[in-house]
Amino acid sequence: MTFQDIVFLTEDASHDAVINHINEEAFGPGRFVRSSERVREQGPHDQQLSFVASDRGEIIASVRMTPIYAGTVEGHLLGPLAVRPSHKNLGIGRELVRIVLAAAQKGGSHAVLLVGDPPYYAPLGFAPTKPGALTMPGPFDARRLLAACYGGVDPMALAGEIRHRDS
Ligand SMILES: CC(C)(COP(=O)(O)OP(=O)(O)OC[C@H]1O[C@@H](n2cnc3c(N)ncnc32)[C@H](O)[C@@H]1OP(=O)(O)O)[C@@H](O)C(=O)NCCC(=O)NCCS
Repeated sequence: MTFQDIVFLTEDASHDAVINHINEEAFGPGRFVRSSERVREQGPHDQQLSFVASDRGEIIASVRMTPIYAGTVEGHLLGPLAVRPSHKNLGIGRELVRIVLAAAQKGGSHAVLLVGDPPYYAPLGFAPTKPGALTMPGPFDARRLLAACYGGVDPMALAGEIRHRDS
């Protein structure tokens, strides 16, 4: 199988079970204690901005987007992002990130935030936020809180609480 076999689709309710399976496989039971998960528990994700990857009919990767406020800025929290082990290192994760960033920007999002590894996300447009300026309901490594911003928003100027926003 190659990247050419992969089709990217907007998420719908029929994908819920397989997405749960993919995330469980990628992150294990500990995924529910993460601070970003506390934010996601505050309300639904936005299916219109969430995508899956399909390999000849089988869903093998997923990325979700949850509407948030970062302080006063309207944005989205990206994640979970997970690719099945059988399909890693084909560029699927990066393509899913590119797709959700383009969709979020088109939809008027001003900041897409995530907690993740800077070496993976920086080439995709994510920059560091100011350590300590943004809070979440629980502890997290501030050096891994990254943002891709639009409409003149400066990632370093983001400040305040990250919380769910009704989309
Ligand atoms: C991280 C993940 C989404 C990457 O998806 P993927 O489709 O395999 O990644 P891509 O093919 O787009 O990119 C692969 C490249 O990213 C690199 N990479 C993968 N994970 C990385 C990480 N955490 N930090 C830095 N680089 C990473 C790979 O080494 C590879 O580098 P290369 O192109 O120089 O060989 C996938 O490995 C996964 O699901 N991991 C488990 C869940 C997870 O950690 N999700 C991210 C949470 S922030």
